[in-house]
Amino acid sequence: MSEWWKTAVVYQVYPRSFADSDGDGIGDLPGITARLDHLAALGVDVLWLSPIYPSPQDDAGYDISDYRDVDPTFGSLADLDRLLAELHARGMKLVMDLVVNHTSDEHPWFAESRSGRAMAKRDWYWWRPPRAGMRAGDPGAEPTNWRSAFSGPAWELDPATGEYYLHIFSRKQPDLNWESPEVREAVYAMMRWWLDRGVDGFRMDVVNFISKDPALPDGHGAGGAFVTGSEHYICGPRIHEFLAEMHREVFAGRDGLLTVGEMPGVTVDEARLFTDPARAELDMVFQFEHVELDQGATKWELRPLRLTDLKASLARWQAGLADVGWNSLYWGNHDQPRAVSRYADDGEHRVRAAKMLATVLHMHRGTPYVYQGEELGMTNAPFAGVEDFRDIESLNHYAEAVAAGEDPEHVLASLRAMGRDNARTPMQWDASEHAGFTTGTPWLAVNPNHVEINAEAARADPGSVFHHYRRLIELRHTLPVVAHGDFTMLLAHDERVYAFTRRLGDIELLVLGNFSGEPVVAELPEPERWRAAELLVGEPADEPLMLRPWEGRVLRA
Ligand code: GLC
Repeated sequence: MSEWWKTAVVYQVYPRSFADSDGDGIGDLPGITARLDHLAALGVDVLWLSPIYPSPQDDAGYDISDYRDVDPTFGSLADLDRLLAELHARGMKLVMDLVVNHTSDEHPWFAESRSGRAMAKRDWYWWRPPRAGMRAGDPGAEPTNWRSAFSGPAWELDPATGEYYLHIFSRKQPDLNWESPEVREAVYAMMRWWLDRGVDGFRMDVVNFISKDPALPDGHGAGGAFVTGSEHYICGPRIHEFLAEMHREVFAGRDGLLTVGEMPGVTVDEARLFTDPARAELDMVFQFEHVELDQGATKWELRPLRLTDLKASLARWQAGLADVGWNSLYWGNHDQPRAVSRYADDGEHRVRAAKMLATVLHMHRGTPYVYQGEELGMTNAPFAGVEDFRDIESLNHYAEAVAAGEDPEHVLASLRAMGRDNARTPMQWDASEHAGFTTGTPWLAVNPNHVEINAEAARADPGSVFHHYRRLIELRHTLPVVAHGDFTMLLAHDERVYAFTRRLGDIELLVLGNFSGEPVVAELPEPERWRAAELLVGEPADEPLMLRPWEGRVLRA
């Protein structure tokens, strides 16, 4: 069973937006269970379930108030057990989201911690007095100059005890203090409880943030302003120690699991350490480099993507984890805009473009992740005004930027391009009023293009994006070169063509993707060799090295 995930494909379900069984407008567990045939038809091996735990839903469930239960909005533990059994019956696995950098401020651990400076759980979180020489509540009295990822300072004053607590995300997401052995033991016990229940692993939310420099120094380069301070908590001093300990305490001696750590800001060198099997920390990590190439200092500063940057980045990750470690591969998830809108063409060439992105991604070495709706070529949503958004990150940014004097239209344009709600519009099952997602009023508006882009239509059309994903997943299962072959990037300086080869023994694949709206010829060395090759994926073409707008292709030598 070891390293079974090298030939696997993971499908991410964002429960709020997948399928609503009870008409309250919010997706739920019975809704997912009722749709498992969609996943089985696609052929995926694993379902990664974003959080379903009890939560005040300040950050859509990434703020957890009880780690061992299910939020009534999503169902019950019995519903979870049923989903798990139905997945296992179809030969699929279930990976849960593990959010332990922080809890909700409504978690009983935090309630106890905040209730007094002498409480036993006080040090389960990061409490600090105001900055030396300042009074609690004064502007700038926060213990450090760190900014929250969701705007504003990363510290909130608790008037009852006169101290501040750290929250890298919203003020309703206080950071746990992993320096406390009791915190770690409580987390490990909870993880074992889920594994004993039968789940098959964890996707670990911002897990490279759990070790902070305990001195909590100011962030660099502030000049009086708030800065991320992330150099003091991204892959902090004890991160490898903590993950190795977690492995010993939770995973050792259990088989067939998958662990993937979400790691903003992780480097290739760090990722090699995290995923080196000999070190027994994690199976793979989500890195962010390739999804940050089209932005400036923050995600809201848009800049055009250069294909050569994308190729250079992904080639470095392929090479860096070639002999040790393993990559995870993704274009999208619940935090990213829709890939076809962001990287390609969601208009005239949408179908071909969505297939091309899939071809390029799935033919890399690593484990591919499909985000719900990506297999239909779902697009960004036509948000009219700020009132159409629901996500705390977008709403806080809008309020802060507009208050600081930015042009509201300009801010809206960046929300439309980068906002996380693009990924969170309801799954498009059919052409009916709410896309078959709910019989009630959806919590976030359905994209009007569901009349054309939906699962029912896609499954009926052999030329659809859906059937293309099916084929790519099948290839990973059946052709060893896809999972295990080595990787060589070609045409590093070409701004239009993404090209690489995969090789295992005497089998060689050539993968091509046209990242432009014009026909283009891939100017490869040895064109003759590829002209004689077999077409493995893509539409027949007279000239195998000539690509239509946004077209992808795989050839086998
Ligand atoms: C991760 C999640 C994101 C969440 C954040 C805080 O990045 O993917 O949705 O807002 O962590 O938990």
